[in-house]
Amino acid sequence: MLRGKHILVGVTGGIAAYKVCYLVRDLKRAGADVKVVMTEAATKFVTPLTFSALSGHAVLGNIWATDQSTLSSIGTQHVDLANWADAYVIAPASANTLAKITYGLSDNLLTIVALASRGPIILAPTMDADMYINPVTQQNVTRLQERGFFIVPPEEGEHASGLKGPGRLPEIRAIIETIERVLDKASRDLKGKKILVTAGPTFEAIDPVRYIGNRSSGKMGFAIANAAALRGATVTLVSGPVHLETPRNVERVDVESAEQMHDAVFKCVATSDAVIMAAAVADYAPERSAKTKIKKGATNKPVSLQLVETPDILNALGQKKNKRTILIGFALETDNELRNAQEKLKTKNLDLIVLNSLKDKGAGFGVDTNVVTILDKKGKTAKLPLMSKLDVANEILNRLKGLL
Ligand code: C5P
Repeated sequence: MLRGKHILVGVTGGIAAYKVCYLVRDLKRAGADVKVVMTEAATKFVTPLTFSALSGHAVLGNIWATDQSTLSSIGTQHVDLANWADAYVIAPASANTLAKITYGLSDNLLTIVALASRGPIILAPTMDADMYINPVTQQNVTRLQERGFFIVPPEEGEHASGLKGPGRLPEIRAIIETIERVLDKASRDLKGKKILVTAGPTFEAIDPVRYIGNRSSGKMGFAIANAAALRGATVTLVSGPVHLETPRNVERVDVESAEQMHDAVFKCVATSDAVIMAAAVADYAPERSAKTKIKKGATNKPVSLQLVETPDILNALGQKKNKRTILIGFALETDNELRNAQEKLKTKNLDLIVLNSLKDKGAGFGVDTNVVTILDKKGKTAKLPLMSKLDVANEILNRLKGLL
C-alpha cells in the first residue's frame, strides 16, 4: 500500500517529535517516499539533520529560503508540496497547530501546506492531558474531523510532565495503519464524476419564528459528501439547517425548506452523474406560513395547523430520470422495512435505496455510526454491520461506482 507513495510528514514542537523519527524510518522501509516539514518549535526537539538523514530529502520549514538550490520553488513550494503528497500526516500535532489549522492560520510552511492541500490530511493530536481535554482543543478536533481531517486518537498514559491521561503520541504502528486506511479511502477512483448529495433536515415555517423540523443531524449526508470528495469526485452538498462543518473540497449550498431544497437540487441535477438524497426532507409543511408571529391567546379555541405535502424531490427526479444520472435514496422505516424500501425503490424509479434502521444500536440520528441495508434494482439486498458513517458512505459509493 505504501510502496511508491508520497508521504509528507509534518512535525510540530513537542517532546514526542523524537518518536516521529521512527515513523519516518518505518514509512521509508515500507517503500514510501517521505518528505518532512518542521515548525521552528519542532527543531528545538529534533534537529532537521536527523529527519533529512532518515527521509533522504532536505527538511523543509523555511518559507523565506533564498539559496540557489531552492530558488526555483520560491513562492510555490507550499503548492508543490501539497500537490506532491498523496497523504500529509502531522505528528505530533500540537494544540497550537491544531488551533491554527482550525482557523486557517498559516504562519509557517507546515500550516500553509495544510491550508493549500486538497489531499488527505492525518493529524495525531499530542500534548499534555490537560491541554488535550481542554474544551477548546476538543472543539477544534471535532471541527477538523467534521471537515474530513483524519484524527489518530492519542493514547492514554504517563506524560513527560508526569501528568496522566490522554494526549500521548499513538504507537507508530497505529499511525501507519491509519495512513494505509486513509490512502485506501482517498483512491481518487471517482475523479471526473459529479455527485450531488443532500443532507440534514428541512425546516418548514409556521411563522417567522416557528417551524416544523425533524431530528436529522446531517451526519450521514455529510459523510457521503466527504467520502466522495476524498475519492476525487466533484461534490455539491445541498444541506438543510445543521450544525456541521463543511467537508474539505465540497461545495455547499444551504437551504431551509423542502421547496428550497427542490429548487437547489434541480439547478444542479442536469450536470450530475449521481444524486444521493440523504436528506430527511419534511413530508408535510404548513399550508401557509403566517407573515407575522402568531400571537398566544388570540383565540381561546384550540389552534390547528393545516399541513400539505411538500414536493417529493426524489420522486420528481425519478420520474424525469435520464439513463445517465444514477439516483440513490434513503428510507427510514419502522415497520415492514424491507418491503417498504423495495416499494420505494420501484415507485421512485431509483437505482439504489439505503434502508436506515432506528432499531439497531448505533444507528440513526446524531451518532457517528450507522446500520444500513442497501437494496438495488435487481432485488439484491446487502445488510451491512454496524460501521462508521464514513465507511457506510464508502459502501454506498462502491456500489455507485459499479453503476456509473
Ligand atoms: O418517501 P420517503 O420520504 O420515505 O422517502 C425517503 C427518500 O425520499 C429520501 O431519500 C428523501 O431524501 C427523499 N425525499 C424527497 N422529498 C421529499 C421526501 C423525501 O426527496 N419530500
